[in-house]
Amino acid sequence: MTSLDTLAGGARGGTLYGIGVGPGDVRYLTLRAAGLVRAVDIVAYFAKRGLPGNARRIVSPLMEAAREERRFEYPLTDEVPAESAEYQQQLGAFYRDTAASLAALLRAGKSVGLLAEGDPFFYGSFMHMWRRLAGDFPVEVVPGVTGMSGCWTRANLPMTWGNDTLAVLPGTLGEEQLVDRLRRTDAAVIMKVGRNLGKVRRAVETAGLLSRAIYVERGTMQDERILPLADCSTPNGAYFAMVLIPGEGRRL
Ligand SMILES: C[S@@+](CC[C@H](N)C(=O)[O-])C[C@H]1O[C@@H](n2cnc3c(N)ncnc32)[C@H](O)[C@@H]1O
Repeated sequence: MTSLDTLAGGARGGTLYGIGVGPGDVRYLTLRAAGLVRAVDIVAYFAKRGLPGNARRIVSPLMEAAREERRFEYPLTDEVPAESAEYQQQLGAFYRDTAASLAALLRAGKSVGLLAEGDPFFYGSFMHMWRRLAGDFPVEVVPGVTGMSGCWTRANLPMTWGNDTLAVLPGTLGEEQLVDRLRRTDAAVIMKVGRNLGKVRRAVETAGLLSRAIYVERGTMQDERILPLADCSTPNGAYFAMVLIPGEGRRL
């Protein structure tokens, strides 16, 4: 019988792997992702200051004690607006330094698996490493189940029917822009809700969609919360939270 590790395939020295670890439940990792977490020389991950790192926490059941790890701690996350000079300067320097550290490991012949929540190419920090390193080193990206996929599954929400269009909107957009985009789509996913929850709720209400909107916090994780957006009265939500508005297209 073929073992799961054989099916998943191994890791090559000097290669960077962007490993999509899915929305939160370790059982939603792909075979390739789970195999690489076990096969690479070094598991690397990003983490917010003082926290264990969500992607690292997701793969905990797969990590062996001997596995070498590298933790890269963000100097800041959502404390200041992403448009501010401070954010751009600090995050830019952080990504530059992190890419240099990864490059040194790759040059030494190590295989490095950089964990990414959900899918690496979907609003992922991994992309900032890919941009800096893919020209000089072999890189393999392993797709993951996106956060939104995990959330609409757990919320039991079929999202797009027939010709429905789907808009994926960052909650960091201005309120007017959110309303405008929401009015021009059938279904919507609003990401990065966190500190934007109050504004997002107002925008959804102005667009006339509040009765259809569902708030999902930490979807597929142990402390998941799912409730109508209309019942969310606080101005802030969790960092891992999104709003889902299903389409109402053709049903046969
Ligand atoms: C920087 S983006 C990363 C997206 C990720 N690469 C993906 O494929 O879903 C972070 C945002 O994703 C959303 N998110 C990701 N996983 C989630 C989950 N399990 N539950 C709720 N929101 C999630 C939240 O809106 C969060 O602010």
